[in-house]
Amino acid sequence: MLERPEFPSRANRSAEAAQYGLVAQWTHWITALLIFAAMIIAWVMIEEARDNPSRPVLYTIHKALGVTIFTIVAFRILWRAANPAPPLPARFARWEAVIAKISHVLLYVVLVGLPISGFIDSQADGHPVSFFYLFDLPAIVPRNKALSELAETAHIWLQWPLYALIALHILATVWHVGVRRDGVLHRMLPKQINAE
Ligand code: HEM
Ligand code: HEM
Repeated sequence: MLERPEFPSRANRSAEAAQYGLVAQWTHWITALLIFAAMIIAWVMIEEARDNPSRPVLYTIHKALGVTIFTIVAFRILWRAANPAPPLPARFARWEAVIAKISHVLLYVVLVGLPISGFIDSQADGHPVSFFYLFDLPAIVPRNKALSELAETAHIWLQWPLYALIALHILATVWHVGVRRDGVLHRMLPKQINAE
């Protein structure tokens, strides 16, 4: 292997990288897990036969996960406003910084738009939104067929920007870890005790 003397060692890069705080890190990874769960449950539930008894259960869990995601993302946005993201590594190219910024803003837009459209779709169609069978959320959206259809269309279409943004997001992580080696993933991970 060729040495690359112009790059600091991996451990040094990690130590140099400014990190997100614990609240930002936990809300990020919990949201990521819940999004994958909500997506997979949605794919299964819409494929199921109408009379399959597990169908309404999966819908309830999908909706409850979506409401949870909305709550965490709303909190995360407020938290971020009060606690801005750490400065990007100095080796970040301008184009990398611009794409990172735009894609993160778009991720937040989609993560707010998806649950809101799903919630309006359900309530405007007269279906209750239960929080994991513990209690029903207040019915704040009046029954309205046209509104429900509009929200359903938005909900179904918004999945595509979500998939595209997640794919870009994960590819970008691979790019930063594997090619740029600039310690970006470390920004979202706990402090390493032995980083010198
Ligand atoms: C970030 C959170 C959410 C994600 C990622 C998500 C994702 C999805 C996806 C991928 C589908 C399948 C769309 C299709 O191709 O037919 C779907 C369907 C659905 N979701 Fe969500 N969803 C979220 C939140 C919610 C919430 C909060 C509710 C309601 C409270 C909800 C209610 C529904 C309903 C009723 C359907 C079936 C739509 C239909 O085909 O009639 N979703 N969701
Ligand atoms: C559904 C899945 C995911 C969503 C919705 C998501 C969303 C986000 C958002 C919105 C940010 C910006 C944080 C902020 O500045 O406020 C972020 C940052 C980040 N995410 Fe994710 N993420 C997901 C999955 C992942 C995965 C699987 C990885 C790793 C493979 C990852 C790695 C990172 C890293 C390294 C950052 C920090 C970027 C920086 O330094 O500014 N994310 N994520």
